[in-house]
Amino acid sequence: MSAVTLAIYPGSFDPVTNGHLDLVEQAAAVFDHVIVAVLQNPTKSPLFTVGERVHWLRNAARRWPNVEVDQFQGLLVDYARLRGAAVIVRGVREMADFEAERRMAQMNRHLHPSLVTVFLPSHSQYAYVSSSLVKEVASLGGDVGGLVPDEVAEALYARFAQRPPAAEGSESNPRGPSGAG
Ligand code: PNS
Repeated sequence: MSAVTLAIYPGSFDPVTNGHLDLVEQAAAVFDHVIVAVLQNPTKSPLFTVGERVHWLRNAARRWPNVEVDQFQGLLVDYARLRGAAVIVRGVREMADFEAERRMAQMNRHLHPSLVTVFLPSHSQYAYVSSSLVKEVASLGGDVGGLVPDEVAEALYARFAQRPPAAEGSESNPRGPSGAG
């Protein structure tokens, strides 16, 4: 019987985007068990708490039975040892991502030589989607629908007290004609 391959998909997920979920779906199809691991980093100031970030990921990941969501602190390699993971999964959207990702993979390999990092390419429809851009757009009143799960979009609009204007002619828009709601 072959061993079960446990992979960790780590990140800040502040907040989760549909691009991240595309990666989770790809990883879930390749590995036996995937742990989406949310970094709890006391030196950074994320927009959302680790609890919120984990909650939205858990809701979104319900559709994949071999995916769990957890949080970690400290070195990723220590968390990988703790969980007995053999693989780290990272998404690469474009070449600009690659150098930094390669450096991180090489450092992790230095610290934990048997840990393998696997890069998965994002689907082109998500190549431009990042948590930071989504936050910027939402903070300026832009529409982030379709880029993040609906409940995350609502949380972003609430956090920034900004909502995008309702689409013209869309009477069914739940935000109402004034864009408030
Ligand atoms: O979504 P992000 O912010 O690009 O994810 C970065 C993350 C969480 C994978 C990376 O910062 C990380 O692994 N942090 C944990 C601390 C650590 O192990 N640092 C050395 C990595 S080379």
